[in-house]
Formats: sequence, structure tokens, C-alpha cells
Amino acid sequence: MQINYDFLDKYTFKSKDITLANHVIMAPTTLKASLSDGSVSDNELNYYRLRAQGPAMIITEAAYVNDLGRGWEGGISAADDDKIPGLRRLARTIQSGGAKAILQIFAAGRQTTTTILRGQQPVSASSQAYPHGDHEMPRALTHSEISQTISDFAQATKRAILAGFDGVELHGANLYLMQQFFSSDSNRRDDIWGGTAEKRQRFGLAITAKVAQTIEKYADKPFLLGYRQSPEEPMTPGITLDQSLTFAEKLTALSVDYLHLSLNNAFQTPFRDKTDTKKVIDYYRAILPPDYPLIIAGLLKKPEQVEALLDVGGEGTFAALGRELIVEPNWVAKVKNNDETAIRYALSPSDFELLAVPKTLENWLLTRFRNGLPITTDSEFNPKQPWQYYKHVMIKAAKPIDPTQLMTLKKRP
Ligand SMILES: Cc1cc2nc3c(=O)[nH]c(=O)nc-3n(C[C@H](O)[C@H](O)[C@H](O)COP(=O)(O)O)c2cc1C
Repeated sequence: MQINYDFLDKYTFKSKDITLANHVIMAPTTLKASLSDGSVSDNELNYYRLRAQGPAMIITEAAYVNDLGRGWEGGISAADDDKIPGLRRLARTIQSGGAKAILQIFAAGRQTTTTILRGQQPVSASSQAYPHGDHEMPRALTHSEISQTISDFAQATKRAILAGFDGVELHGANLYLMQQFFSSDSNRRDDIWGGTAEKRQRFGLAITAKVAQTIEKYADKPFLLGYRQSPEEPMTPGITLDQSLTFAEKLTALSVDYLHLSLNNAFQTPFRDKTDTKKVIDYYRAILPPDYPLIIAGLLKKPEQVEALLDVGGEGTFAALGRELIVEPNWVAKVKNNDETAIRYALSPSDFELLAVPKTLENWLLTRFRNGLPITTDSEFNPKQPWQYYKHVMIKAAKPIDPTQLMTLKKRP
């Protein structure tokens, strides 16, 4: 029986003449596979090419806007004009499958190390280390460095425009620099950039306004501006849902075309107040203009969950799939073709090459993300001894993968 999911319907933005083919978005997923100078690599192009046929829009992994913004080895750079040709290949690769290409741009702030910054100390709003675990002490950015960083976001946007992207997403989430300015944990300043909740919003708002101006000036086709938020922080002091909602109202009053929430679970209730039973998405819908485009990420895997999200969020709600699109590049095609039983929800280590997962991402998935990702053990892989597996893996030169190969793979039991 063919199910007519609403999430397969088209959507046209009211703010810009851009139509999305459906309501499924590929969530930004760092591959750590760029060349050492931040240029886009063939491994990255292969990964994106394989996933470009289904989702309406692909948001790339976070690209750093300046050298101090680099968050990890193998990150994509949008920090220099010489990166434009590689970024152009990335945009074209994504668009070749019909998806809109959005470049996520960021600066890591204190979420990096002196080693990754080649000897430079990490920077943040204040000299305040991340409170949990063993993290380096950052230094506070000076006023002129803050102004420069705001221009760096604008310059990165100009490069995304010249490279042919369909938009940029400002990464104001996941504890990176934009969030660090907004948070009363990391921002202890008492100048114009901190001291009150309103002043802590200023950095994000200034970047948004400058990026919007850049789009106005340089884009010769409709070009989206999105903003990603983490609505709450676990630490005290830290970002509260109320603060994020007030901030979201201001952002959407500027030229922000969509808001993107980075959640652990798309249907979650606030985690700072465990007694609150109202969903975070309902709080956002209550303050946003009717039908305002709202992307939600967090553990969405099955078609019925995506449909339920649209039921909860209403018109203008989009589902961002992260880990599920690593495992199943043909998710949208299988839903459209009424082939849902063939959707894969678990990863086998022997499939990494076929899935075009670069070694760097594979390594990360098998260690840091091991708990959040179902991995079958139908190969020589033993999760207790991952190094044994690596000994047997042949590192092959990157080669393009035929997406149709994957369609023939059967779902694992
Ligand atoms: C390997 C990996 C890399 C990620 N890289 C980014 C990133 O570059 N930018 C970002 O905003 N979120 C990043 N995320 C978070 C995802 O976009 C998403 O919010 C998160 O995985 C939850 O969605 P999921 O449950 O569908 O995976 C990453 C997640 C994973 C698993």
C-alpha cells in the first residue's frame, strides 16, 4: 500500500523564491576529511554525491570562517578566497542530485585546541574554559577581533555566494563561538558584548545583520540565510529556553529565512526543567510567525517519526536527519518508491566504503558516536577491540561510487 506522506510535499519559501522538493533535510555532519589546508577533498565530494538525490536540502558540515575558528583536523575552510574553487565543486556536487546546497559557517571559539590552531591559544567571549572535562583555557577576544570575526562571517558568506551555494547557515549551536557569546557560562564580559542577556545576543545579531547585508549586496539569485540554535545548555549559569526564545524572535525579525534547532530528540521537552511537559517545538511555534520555516534535528530515523514531527510542528516544519543519512543514503528514494522495508537503520563496518564514509568519520563513529549509532557485528569487527578491525582494513584510494549500487542492498535483520 502506498502511503502519501505529507513530508514528501514540495515547499516554497515565502521570503525567497526557492522551492524545496520535500521536507527532508540532511543535517550538517562533519566528516573531518578536508585536506590539511581546509580545501574540499574528493572523499568529501563522494560522500555528498551519494546523498544528494533524496533530501530537499543538504546543509554541509561546519566550515570555519577564519583560522582561529578551526575546530578539528580535516575541517572545511571558508576562510580564504583560494578555497572558492573547492567550495564550488562541493555546491555543484550537492546540486547535481537535485538538493539545495547550504554551507554551514562557524568559528569554534573555545571548542578547539592549541594543537589544532598550530600554536595559537583558543579564543572565546571570555577567558573561561568549558566546565566539564579537561579543556584548554581560552583568551577573551578583543573588541577589534570581535569586529573582525563578524566581517569574517560576511566574507565567508560572499565566498559561498561566489561558489554557487543556495544559502548559508550560521552555526549558533553545539557550544561553538556564536553560542559562547550568548551563554552566561562562557560570556562573562561587562562591555557592549556581555553583562546582560540582551548584550550577549549582540554578537549573533551583528553577524546575522552583516551576513544579510552581504547577501543583499552580492547574491544574484535567491540565497537563504538560516540560523542553528541549541535552545538550552545543561550547565548553570547557561542558556535557558526563555533566553533562546527571545533571541529567536529577534533573529526571525531580521532577514533569517529559517531557524534550525539542534536537539537530542526532536520531540523533547525542556531538559533544564524536568517537570515541564510541553515540547520544545511547541514553545517555538508559539513565538514564531505562523508557518515560519523551522528545521528540527534529533534522532529522526523512521518515516512515521518524520510524519509525526510535521503533524506536531505544522506547516513549514522540516526534519533534519543526521546519523540516519550516514547509514541510509537512499532514505528518501526508498520512501518514495514504497520500499520502506529496505531502509537500513544499522551500520555494518564492512559497508563503510560502499557508503562513501571517509576513514576519519568511520573512526569517529566507532569511538565517540559508538553509543548513538547501531552497528551490526556481522564482520570481523569487535566493538571491544576496534583496533583489531583496523588492522584488517585496506585503505583504498577514493573513487566515485555508483549510487544505484546501494539501492540493491537489502535491509539487515
Ligand atoms: C558525526 C557527526 C558530525 C556532526 N557534525 C555537525 C556539524 O558540523 N555541524 C552541526 O551543526 N552539527 C553537527 N552534528 C550534529 C547533527 O547535525 C545532528 O544535530 C545530530 O547528529 C542529531 O541528529 P541525529 O540524531 O539525526 O543524528 C554532527 C553529528 C554527527 C553524528
